[in-house]
Amino acid sequence: MSSYKTKKTLGNTEWFEHDRFGMFIHWGLYAMPARNEWIKHIECITDEKYDKYFKYFNPDLYDAKEWARRAKEAGMKYAVLTTKHHEGFCMFDTKYTDYKCTNTPAGRDLVKEYVEAFRAEGLKVGFYYSLIDWHHPDFTIDAIHPRRYDKDAFEQNQGRDMKKYTEYMRNQVTELLTNYGKIDIMWFDFSYPNKDPNYPDWMQGKGKDDWESEKLIETVRAIQPDIIIDNRCDLEQDIWTPEQYQPLTWVKHAETGELVTWEACQTFSGSWGYHRDESTWKSPKMLIDMLINTVCIGGNLLMNVGPTARGYLDKRAENALSVYAEWMKYNSRSIYGCTMAEPEFVAPRGTRLTQSEDGKRLYIHLIEYPYAFLEFQGLGGKVDYAQFLHDGSEILYTEGGVDHFSEARTQNDGLVAFKLPPVKPDVVVPVIEVFLK
Ligand code: GLC
Repeated sequence: MSSYKTKKTLGNTEWFEHDRFGMFIHWGLYAMPARNEWIKHIECITDEKYDKYFKYFNPDLYDAKEWARRAKEAGMKYAVLTTKHHEGFCMFDTKYTDYKCTNTPAGRDLVKEYVEAFRAEGLKVGFYYSLIDWHHPDFTIDAIHPRRYDKDAFEQNQGRDMKKYTEYMRNQVTELLTNYGKIDIMWFDFSYPNKDPNYPDWMQGKGKDDWESEKLIETVRAIQPDIIIDNRCDLEQDIWTPEQYQPLTWVKHAETGELVTWEACQTFSGSWGYHRDESTWKSPKMLIDMLINTVCIGGNLLMNVGPTARGYLDKRAENALSVYAEWMKYNSRSIYGCTMAEPEFVAPRGTRLTQSEDGKRLYIHLIEYPYAFLEFQGLGGKVDYAQFLHDGSEILYTEGGVDHFSEARTQNDGLVAFKLPPVKPDVVVPVIEVFLK
């Protein structure tokens, strides 16, 4: 069994740590400007101008079943959909605001269709819910609000009552966790409590006291006790969420040093929401490396798609998902139910290791394909059998060293040399599956 013990969680993270790989979905009115989900902030767009998107939002090609099929095919075991992003627009039929998808030409509860479709494909379902809300009349203007540069921003804030907004959040979260069946993840986003000397006190950021995070978390756990909650309410909960960044070691608790349950969230390109004109799309090798780099240090990867305003995943997103589908079809055994390899196994140069939770299988991911041999120090006497994972073809190996005439042969009992075909198999990252004695 794995020797790694993570910090105890209130939510059920057992399935989560087994499944490893999920789909993030950033979808909202911002798919119409199609130039980043923060567009209202970036261009300080007025509500009046932004309401044009509300007026014409009509995802007539939305087919949640197709999204779910694509996610499952890509090897993703769970999904997290934006039910409301910073723009404040609700993708579900809430009774607490008219600023919702059922009041647009869409005329349907988009979250409901997502939950039903993804559950039908056997995926766990999660909700992203933005703590930030640039549309709500009681959400106070601060340093990241689209109205931050208005000359009368201070005056606009008078009369705004954040207590009314936090009650609105609790009411909506109650709807989300009551009306759509079992929800597996509640993904809040995000807190920015640090004081910024460049701004007056009234424009400072927001943290747990502004959100009334304790009450919000209590509300969530009272309705869905098993749910996993992320750490962005300015209170640590079940999972840590490094974003657009690849940790190099297993994420630890800042105070206690305990290993924690963590999930890296990343985009296929630069933007979370659909961005028509950006070109920073990651290569197939980067996509697969990111998944392996995450699981090899005990983490989950949440890869994001930004559907178009018509409701479908564009070709670039479909191509990226196909890269995962192709690799996971043959190699998912090195991901599901796997975690960081035991300390006795030190990854040879150019490789990443994962190990099955039961300790019986070691996976050597050939991030850099070596020439002829892969020498693995410390594996001597421990290998029962080895094969390429993708096609189950045997990998021959010798113990004790390799005769290569370059030095007097010295017996090295700890060394195993795997003999590899000189031409890299047609797999983005080939994997050697080692059955341990
Ligand atoms: C950041 C972005 C936000 C996105 C989130 C996903 O908070 O500002 O737009 O939804 O990351 O983790």
